[in-house]
Amino acid sequence: MIAVVIGGGTMGAGIAHLLLAGGHEVVLAEAGAERVAAARRAVEASLAKAAARGRLDRDPADLLVNLTVVGRLARVPADLVVEAVPEDLDLKRRVLAAAASACPDAVLASNTSSLSIGALAEGLPGERVVGMHFFNPVPVQELVELVRHDGLAPAVLARARAWAEQLGKTVVEVRDSPGFATSRLGVAVGLEAIRMLEEGVATAEDVDTGMRLGYGWPMGPLRLTDLVGLDVRLAIAEHLAAELGPRFAPPALLRDKVARGELGRKSGRGFFTW
Ligand SMILES: NC(=O)c1ccc[n+]([C@@H]2O[C@H](COP(=O)([O-])OP(=O)(O)OC[C@H]3O[C@@H](n4cnc5c(N)ncnc54)[C@H](O)[C@@H]3O)[C@@H](O)[C@H]2O)c1
Repeated sequence: MIAVVIGGGTMGAGIAHLLLAGGHEVVLAEAGAERVAAARRAVEASLAKAAARGRLDRDPADLLVNLTVVGRLARVPADLVVEAVPEDLDLKRRVLAAAASACPDAVLASNTSSLSIGALAEGLPGERVVGMHFFNPVPVQELVELVRHDGLAPAVLARARAWAEQLGKTVVEVRDSPGFATSRLGVAVGLEAIRMLEEGVATAEDVDTGMRLGYGWPMGPLRLTDLVGLDVRLAIAEHLAAELGPRFAPPALLRDKVARGELGRKSGRGFFTW
């Protein structure tokens, strides 16, 4: 089948990789012709890494013949569209509106980590709009969180689930609510860990080791915050505080670190040094 991915950054390149490995034809749409080569390289690199680690049963070159990267989406008979552009409501609405007319029969899925799917669906054919939240790195992480808003057609939800399961993912289904299930809980624990650091309860290393060895987490909440990006976490916390109340208010330490440019792994320093 044909799938469209909009945005070829961290998540979009991973989703394109996953769809190609699942045997599909993929049209990857970026923001203009000058972004096309970089997006293609990102998908190539993702496939090459999986092949080098023995996690791909096909030659990447055989899969890449099914990839078309474009700077602007034209009409295509896709069954699925997944948008993975930056976390901005108006931008996402614009790209989904363009996809709704370019792909008149497709499921219109958003990979947003926190925006309201109902708000995204306003002014669009809302019965086709669903949250399809993948996790980073997409080809490796097992979960897809499907988010349903009130106007979603049950048949579209079923199609989104079938896509995710065909791609080897396990689905959890969540009602459209701030932070869905995963961001809400993940951010809650992450913020509490930062408050504990502020209060001098334990070192970053000990907070994380406590959750790893005491609760079986594969990674502690502070290291995970470093990986996600402190700026990304701060933005989600601000959104959740506005929607759900002061229990999600970002701690001063998080704000200070972001202001100093300590964004986690991507800047070389966050709660740990990378
Ligand atoms: N990074 C993560 O760990 C993660 C995890 C889950 C969900 N998400 C969500 O996925 C989405 C994308 O995140 P990301 O980390 O991949 O961001 P990113 O910045 O790495 O990639 C975004 C891409 O979208 C492209 N883009 C911008 N405007 C566009 C347009 N009009 N048309 C087509 N492409 C356009 C950009 O050029 C860029 O390549 C966000 O909604 C984010 O919240 C991210």
